Amino acid sequence: MLKTKITDLLEIKYPIVGGAMMWISKAEFVAAMSEAGGLGIMASANYKSKESFSEAIEKMKTLTNNPYGININLFPAMTQIDNNDYIDVMADNGLKIVETSGHHAPEELIARFKDLGMTWIHKCVGVRYAKKVEAMGADIVTVVGYENGGATGRLDTCTMVLVPVVVDAVNVPVIGGGGISDGRGVAAVLSLGAEAVIMGTRLLVTKESPIHDNIKNALLNASELDTMLVMRSLNATHRVLNNDAANQCVELENKKAEFAELYEVIKGENANEMYYKGIVGKGILSCGQGIGLAHDIPSVKELFDRMAEKAEQTLMRFSN
Ligand SMILES: Cc1cc2nc3c(=O)[nH]c(=O)nc-3n(C[C@H](O)[C@H](O)[C@H](O)COP(=O)(O)O)c2cc1C
Repeated sequence: MLKTKITDLLEIKYPIVGGAMMWISKAEFVAAMSEAGGLGIMASANYKSKESFSEAIEKMKTLTNNPYGININLFPAMTQIDNNDYIDVMADNGLKIVETSGHHAPEELIARFKDLGMTWIHKCVGVRYAKKVEAMGADIVTVVGYENGGATGRLDTCTMVLVPVVVDAVNVPVIGGGGISDGRGVAAVLSLGAEAVIMGTRLLVTKESPIHDNIKNALLNASELDTMLVMRSLNATHRVLNNDAANQCVELENKKAEFAELYEVIKGENANEMYYKGIVGKGILSCGQGIGLAHDIPSVKELFDRMAEKAEQTLMRFSN
């Protein structure tokens, strides 16, 4: 059941993609998603050298034989090394699923993806970007609505509208997300014409999620009302948990503070410290409205199994 073009194309059991998450989507967690029947996506930007990325890929070989993807980040501020270095490692290891995301389409990388026979997924937030990358040769387009955790772009289109308008506009399979936290969401996105869902926020609150228990508990206690937008003035809008760092960020933006002052609040080192030392207000915590649907801390497998089961039941509901 829940067999779709994406489950066929990517050779996965469930039409569920675990979105790349900066500081978080490293080998063990990504492998847990792929072992559970979804597609884990590793965030290459978590690795600051070709060597450390190679080590992570070696580790993946010991953790799963199932497919997984590599996210190549096109956000200028988050690029650690030349993206070609990550692609070299992918090529050396025969990794065939690449996802790009960021401020622009990756003109300079496409020829390499194609030469290497990779399946190229591009993640974006609107029809115009989806059509552009389809014309450039993307095999799959992922779109995430305004509810989503992390970068929201500037089009502010909600998942309910974004998924079907993109499905209507392109001929390649679409993965849809933003606010998907349970099986009802999976059924909804598939009903809108997508071939799979992507989710990030819900996965933060799982057993294998590597973040500190304090952060998991703060997320469990959060509702759909506890997110906010930051960094809009920097043209880098993110939906994040409403915490001290997010509020400081918005105060500084409202005051039109210098970037250097803002940077002290939004820098990745703060987020890393927050995630792993458990200091909830210390950094910017990407988090979508779907956090209001997270009420427990299951294993990734338990989560995917029950989401798939509930999605099937939901899709059958009106069948007799
Ligand atoms: C904590 C966190 C970090 C994220 N980091 C990245 C990232 O580095 N690159 C990226 O393309 N997307 C990133 N995302 C977005 C996810 O990959 C995914 O598209 C999004 O979470 C889906 O929406 P949802 O959070 O409503 O499920 C992040 C999301 C979260 C929650």
